[in-house]
Amino acid sequence: MCGITGYLGFREAYPIVINGLQRLEYRGYDSAGIVLTSSDKKLKLYKTKGKVSDLKEIVKTKDITGNLALGHTRWATHGIPNDENSHPHVSNSGRLVIVHNGIIENYDTIKKELIKRGYTFQSDTDTEVLINLIEEVQIKNNCKLGKAVQLALTNVVGAYAIAVYDINKPDEVIVARLGSPLAIGIGENNSEFFIASDASPFIEFTRDAIYLDDEELAIIKLGKKIRVRKINDDSIVKPNIQELKLNLEQIEKGGYDHFMLKEIYEQPSAIFDTFRGRLLADQGIIKMGSVDNNITKFLNAKRIIIVACGTSWHAGLVGEYLLEDIARIPVEVEYASEFRYRNPIINKDDIVIAISQSGETADTLAAIKLAKSNGAFVFGICNVVGSSIARETNSGAYTHAGPEIGVASTKAFTTQITVLTLIALKLGHLKGELSNSKFHNYLQIMKSIPSKVEKLLTVSAKVEKIAAIYKDAPNCLYLGRGYNFPVALEGALKLKEISYIHAEGYPAAEMKHGPIALIDESMPVVVIATKKGHYEKVVSNIQEIKSRNGRIIAIVTEGDTIVKEIADHVIEIPETEEAFTPLLTTIPLQLLSYYIAVMRGCNVDQPRNLAKSVTVE
Ligand code: M6R
Repeated sequence: MCGITGYLGFREAYPIVINGLQRLEYRGYDSAGIVLTSSDKKLKLYKTKGKVSDLKEIVKTKDITGNLALGHTRWATHGIPNDENSHPHVSNSGRLVIVHNGIIENYDTIKKELIKRGYTFQSDTDTEVLINLIEEVQIKNNCKLGKAVQLALTNVVGAYAIAVYDINKPDEVIVARLGSPLAIGIGENNSEFFIASDASPFIEFTRDAIYLDDEELAIIKLGKKIRVRKINDDSIVKPNIQELKLNLEQIEKGGYDHFMLKEIYEQPSAIFDTFRGRLLADQGIIKMGSVDNNITKFLNAKRIIIVACGTSWHAGLVGEYLLEDIARIPVEVEYASEFRYRNPIINKDDIVIAISQSGETADTLAAIKLAKSNGAFVFGICNVVGSSIARETNSGAYTHAGPEIGVASTKAFTTQITVLTLIALKLGHLKGELSNSKFHNYLQIMKSIPSKVEKLLTVSAKVEKIAAIYKDAPNCLYLGRGYNFPVALEGALKLKEISYIHAEGYPAAEMKHGPIALIDESMPVVVIATKKGHYEKVVSNIQEIKSRNGRIIAIVTEGDTIVKEIADHVIEIPETEEAFTPLLTTIPLQLLSYYIAVMRGCNVDQPRNLAKSVTVE
């Protein structure tokens, strides 16, 4: 979490860095700050609790000139969100500045040592400790800044992406990473450089970028090629310059009020892009290089363990239903944060599938490392190309959903399910669990999903009216069975994270084992009651809610008549195979949360206390 960005070159740095901070604000928005330096070697440091827009207000009357700048947008870990704890931080001499994304776990021990040596601290942050440690190491060893950063980092336990400079050397920035992402954009002939947590702040300036790997440090000097070395053994690394594929429109709102709404509406094309080149329905093939190249492993897998967090974990649960039902492979779905610490049994014949939109989630990354060290083959399903998880896994498939900026995951969820569906269908067919004709039929049905999602999005106005009725409800229940139980969990997560209404998802039949006690006339209950998914049983559950005066919002299959008679509101989804319904039932639930949150005046794209990419455990 936290976003860092920076510029070193011939242009005025302020507009580039402030714009970059706005693009990175999805990573944290507790506070924002910027430091600028020009050839006069003065330190211009401005920071504040609040958002980048607050920072922009503050600097209106200040000197913001300089060709070198670092910026930071914070998701607080050590120290409350206030001005002092905001980044950038400055060393005691006032010479070195730093921005940091991550956590220095042993900061307290280091801080005590530094205090003994006379250092003082203005903030409660681990980052201020780190910049003073770097200063202390540099003084002690009388070395260049790059060396001092490297030596200091060998004493550090934790995770970091940092950018550091010395105001007396305004032509050089040192960056390093361990566990938190860091990209460097390179201008023509090394005349300018851009630093950022992801490439979005600099895509309009350059297409050439380096993604640092863990334990790497780079020395960025104007007019020179970037030098990269390993922090621990000092070995030289040849930088891998990649060409960025991202485009500007993809990271802008494109006329929508919020990124979340834009991303909900992008789902037909996002799902289509996930299919592209893979679902060859007319040829009767699913082509997935990463699965094809490891097909023996997949077919011989005794078990698949899916690890993920949040929405990606919910996609994993849908994956469990798909892979067990269609491919008949036993599946366990684990919260990555639990898996990594509970001494799990991992066998060599197990396949671990790690799911992550950002590809940077710290717990998922740690779960992958654990699984690999136990000999498992780890397959990643990620959205962000070149992300840490994409690189750490043995193989994997990108979702190709395009950038997801809204903190609440929407298109990432449906495209993750799309990849899992393709894998399940492919393995089910190859294992002989799906007959040829059924397989071909499924491919045709899958192919029609994007247009069905498109059609479904026209329920938006109806969902908005329902949202207006329930926007003040203090609680909400979400119920589903089978394939749609994880969708109920996801619907509840969406509502609570962006509207702050307490919501719970349950398997519909579990209701009578406890949650039914909550039902009265003030409790909206969202029930997914699709035609083929244990329909009669869900109808009975709906009757049970009705008898207790609960208010029912039902998601039903087109043409349903029975639920219509009982429910207060019905939202119809187009008919499809039950296994594919999560791709449709999810959509109205996303819209419902969105409209409720907007009507409650919540910040939909940046809900409180959250960040898009959770790079701390
Ligand atoms: O980037 P990841 O998919 O690994 O992120 C996992 C969760 O942090 C994420 O899904 C989170 O739950 C979202 N805010 C949900 O909308």
